[in-house]
Amino acid sequence: MIDQRVAVLGLGKIGTILLQGLLKAGLPPGKACATVRHAERARASSGQLPVPVGPDNRTAARSADIILISVKPQNVGELLEEIRPEVTPAKLVVSVAASVPTSYIEARLADGVPVVRAMPNTPCQVGAGMTGICKGSHATDVHLNLARQLFDTVGRTVVVDEKHMDAVTGLSASGPAFIYIILESLAEAGVKVGLPRDVATLLSAQTLLGAAKVALDTGDHPALLKDTVTTPAGCTIDGILELEEGKLRVTLIKAVVKSTQRAKELLFET
Ligand SMILES: NC(=O)c1ccc[n+]([C@@H]2O[C@H](COP(=O)([O-])OP(=O)(O)OC[C@H]3O[C@@H](n4cnc5c(N)ncnc54)[C@H](OP(=O)(O)O)[C@@H]3O)[C@@H](O)[C@H]2O)c1
Repeated sequence: MIDQRVAVLGLGKIGTILLQGLLKAGLPPGKACATVRHAERARASSGQLPVPVGPDNRTAARSADIILISVKPQNVGELLEEIRPEVTPAKLVVSVAASVPTSYIEARLADGVPVVRAMPNTPCQVGAGMTGICKGSHATDVHLNLARQLFDTVGRTVVVDEKHMDAVTGLSASGPAFIYIILESLAEAGVKVGLPRDVATLLSAQTLLGAAKVALDTGDHPALLKDTVTTPAGCTIDGILELEEGKLRVTLIKAVVKSTQRAKELLFET
């Protein structure tokens, strides 16, 4: 486990998930702290986590070896301006903000500060997260490995070129929302064909989990795995015909493309 002091600046949804994951994986609470913008939110969060939570970004940044930035993309600039005097090249800055390039962060910090950009997703809350990471121009492989170690505590991590980070955002960071819609729809279908709702939801969720696990464990192409379910002239092929007619594939592809495009815009909004 990481033996570094970690400050999470922006303890919102993803910041909380990551901090909880790190604590669960063995980060001592004494080595962590976090910030939010509003004092009343800080008080509420302090009651829920065994780490100090306050509105003072500078003090939090000063006390940390790893500074994890998890505010909204539009708030990254002002946050960097605030913490700049505290961030030396001996620290590592890890940003999970969508849309924000490492060059944008580097330009607002002292020369030589190592920056790693990361894009995790919400399944990190159960240790089944997927995170894409890339390094900025001052980060070394040691920094990248440190960031990898951090995200490995809450799931799997893949290193990508920075040009692919918006695509990672569109696929695996937005992806859980797409999958929840599929999960809900399959459960609705179960209800339509007469199953009790709780049973239908369990069948749907475990089927998604099982199919994903087979794909990961075997490494087989999804088309091959689909063929193993599809008996000639059986039931599944009739269902597949409906999916093709309903354009499920192209709809999912377009959803990821749109999310990826949107990820390129967020930084420029106020
Ligand atoms: N949600 C996801 O699935 C996900 C996945 C990957 C990456 N991300 C990225 O993570 C970032 C946060 O997303 P989120 O969904 O967690 O949003 P969120 O729940 O709205 O969290 C944002 C947090 O930032 C705090 N904040 C805002 N300005 C601040 C400042 N100047 N100093 C300290 N804290 C400040 C807010 O505090 P208050 O509550 O007091 O306003 C809030 O707690 C975004 O950049 C997003 O692109 C999100």
